[in-house]
Amino acid sequence: MRDLQTYKRQGRIITALTAWDALSGAWVEASGCDVALVGDSLAMVSLGHSTTLPVSLEAMMHHAQAVGRAIHRPLLVADLPFLSYQCGPERAMAAAGRFLKETPCQAVKLEGAEPETTAVINRLVRSGIPVMGHLGLTPQSVHRLGWGRQACSAPDQERLRQKALDLQQQGCFALVLEHIPAMLASRLRRELEIPVIGIGAGPDCDGQILVTADLLGLTPSQPPFVKPRLQSTEMFKRELQSWCREQRHQGQTASPPKEDNPPGPGY
Ligand code: KIV
Repeated sequence: MRDLQTYKRQGRIITALTAWDALSGAWVEASGCDVALVGDSLAMVSLGHSTTLPVSLEAMMHHAQAVGRAIHRPLLVADLPFLSYQCGPERAMAAAGRFLKETPCQAVKLEGAEPETTAVINRLVRSGIPVMGHLGLTPQSVHRLGWGRQACSAPDQERLRQKALDLQQQGCFALVLEHIPAMLASRLRRELEIPVIGIGAGPDCDGQILVTADLLGLTPSQPPFVKPRLQSTEMFKRELQSWCREQRHQGQTASPPKEDNPPGPGY
């Protein structure tokens, strides 16, 4: 965490990517990025849900353990899932504590800065659990805020600014700003001492984070602020279809098994 703050002071851009299992964790480890996030976006990327809300604490921990087997160098952070920290500081402590005790995660991320949330953050930080904040588009509030760009009006920008200052005050070691106007992120980057890590928040941030599946073109619904670097889904589908065709073709040309010689046990 201190390294990230040093990088901010030095003007070295922080890079962060999400991972959801050991395979994606290995890609993220090999990327040389600074932070690996077991994001609750895995509810959509890996589990097929249409929002991040359904993923449970148990499921997040299962994925965090798998990612943790592949991540050695980057700081490993896990998202606290919906309703694991909104039901009071005791439950939040128990949930966050489980990530630090039962997975290799070194910090947790949680969304928003309502007074109940900042009270939870304060409690976690004072107990030695590092917390990354997350403002702007907060997917756990999708039914209230939608998927669109946030903080577009001047009063909303001022509200977000106050929340960012509050999160810093409560001890967050870094802040993710998602899908907000670039000028606001740029202003907060200058105003805050903690690193500001943007996603769809323009280029003038202390760091950038992306959902790895979006970057690699693996997600069916691409957010408007990420241009995939590969057409992976199409490529994978093509290769798998071609393999199936090849097997059927080879099967047709090979001689059929003799009826008096059926496959034995263990075939
Ligand atoms: O869950 C997630 O993937 C996130 C993004 C901000 C990276 O929180």
